[in-house]
Amino acid sequence: MHPEDTATRYDRIASWWQTQHQSSFYGIAQLERAIKFVPNKQLAIDIGCGSSGRFIQVLKEHRFQVEGLDISEEMIDLAKQLHPGITFYRADICCWNPPKLYSLIVAWDSTFHLPLEMQKPVTQKLCDALEPDGVLMFTCGGGYRQSEVSGTFQGQDFEYSTLGVNAFLKILAEHQCTCLHLEYDQYPENHVYIIAQKTGSTLS
Ligand SMILES: C[S@@+](CC[C@H](N)C(=O)[O-])C[C@H]1O[C@@H](n2cnc3c(N)ncnc32)[C@H](O)[C@@H]1O
Repeated sequence: MHPEDTATRYDRIASWWQTQHQSSFYGIAQLERAIKFVPNKQLAIDIGCGSSGRFIQVLKEHRFQVEGLDISEEMIDLAKQLHPGITFYRADICCWNPPKLYSLIVAWDSTFHLPLEMQKPVTQKLCDALEPDGVLMFTCGGGYRQSEVSGTFQGQDFEYSTLGVNAFLKILAEHQCTCLHLEYDQYPENHVYIIAQKTGSTLS
């Protein structure tokens, strides 16, 4: 599915998402784990931040300077109302060129919607946008094969893709990032979250 079609579907459920997730703890323990690995808590960005700003709130509490990015205009507009002082980008992560280097990049349940062929370039882009020792946390489909699946959520059809865990780890290693934590946090659901750090070491 083209990212703009994903955006249209999220536009339709943006208000529901905000009400449902504003005080949700989903993914927050994982975010707290990632934050512990960040040595310099300066600039953080939430990729696919959604309308609730729940990750943004936690990042603010940890005194990061925070930015949010989302492809859905409705999601961004609602998130802005809750966090008026924050820089938001209404952008497709596939086309967005990071203007800065980040201490922490979070992409929770967002990049798993990308078309399969965009998984590799976007993961590379996120690695490249980390400052030295910066941390990336993202979710992806598990397993060792690439795959594409569709599903219905809140009456909207969505698509998901993954390269498989081994391929993501290879991309991280090729882009000077070291995996610090990988967990099937919703097992037996095929949902994985990965925390990696820009250590400067590469695959030899
Ligand atoms: C499942 S929601 C997760 C929202 C938020 N991360 C949270 O956990 O509350 C997925 C979000 O990713 C955004 N998204 C999907 N594809 C995107 C893309 N190509 N670029 C930027 N954002 C995208 C959607 O608009 C939506 O807000």
